Amino acid sequence: MQYEEYAAIYDRSGQNSFSLLMDIYLRDLLRTHQVAGRSMLDLACGTGTLALMLAERGWAVLGIDRSAAMLDEAERKVSELEEELDIRFAQGDMRDFTIDARVGLVTCCYDTLNYLTDDADLRQCFASVARALVPGGLFCFDLATDYFLEHYWQGVEVEEFDAGTQIMQSHYDHASGLSTLVLTGFVEVTPGRYRRFREVHVERGYAQPVVRHYLEQAGFVVEAVYDCFTSQPPNERSLREMYVARRS
Ligand SMILES: C[S@@+](CC[C@H](N)C(=O)[O-])C[C@H]1O[C@@H](n2cnc3c(N)ncnc32)[C@H](O)[C@@H]1O
Repeated sequence: MQYEEYAAIYDRSGQNSFSLLMDIYLRDLLRTHQVAGRSMLDLACGTGTLALMLAERGWAVLGIDRSAAMLDEAERKVSELEEELDIRFAQGDMRDFTIDARVGLVTCCYDTLNYLTDDADLRQCFASVARALVPGGLFCFDLATDYFLEHYWQGVEVEEFDAGTQIMQSHYDHASGLSTLVLTGFVEVTPGRYRRFREVHVERGYAQPVVRHYLEQAGFVVEAVYDCFTSQPPNERSLREMYVARRS
């Protein structure tokens, strides 16, 4: 399963820097698209970087992810803090989950919904998010575009970092519209000794009209779609789209 082995080096490889950007961007978005209350769910929260930053700003945060190892990393980070935050984590599948108390905001960031390669899964996920939100609650998520998957998830990248190395080989298949990334990682277990792992990650892009339609079917009103990290609408070369949808 993806992200079980990768969890050990996810933050160290620099993947958590996406959350630093998203945190700043979300602050702007939430000024324009306001949310009542301070309770939220970070869906597919990974190692909890964004969840932690939002909790530090006063949100009561629930983080859900499928990967036990990613959640262990998130819990470890919380346990190392001196301050007490209103944050908790639970294992769950974004395609079908329920939470105890509904929240005012759901976020789902960093290509995560691109992992749902079947339309039915995306629709089921939107239905679960709608159930998790109070009426008027906000759903903010990004999706990597087909343009990004076709032009940027191609080729080979090797990165060496503190106590690990990763090799990412990706290929976009025009016929299926799927991008497959083979991740080979080396995690330093004792000085100079490495454990090797291999994970296959498959992502798919969704055209904006399709996403809008599924959101509306699930009971959302789409307030805006942005070229992610800007306040401009997406264009044909956008790498990522940010959706802001309100539960009606
Ligand atoms: C690219 S990472 C993003 C993690 C985090 N949101 C971030 O910004 O760093 C994708 C995450 O989605 C999780 N994930 C993938 N499929 C999932 C599913 N069906 N249900 C819940 N989590 C899932 C993975 O375990 C992983 O933590």
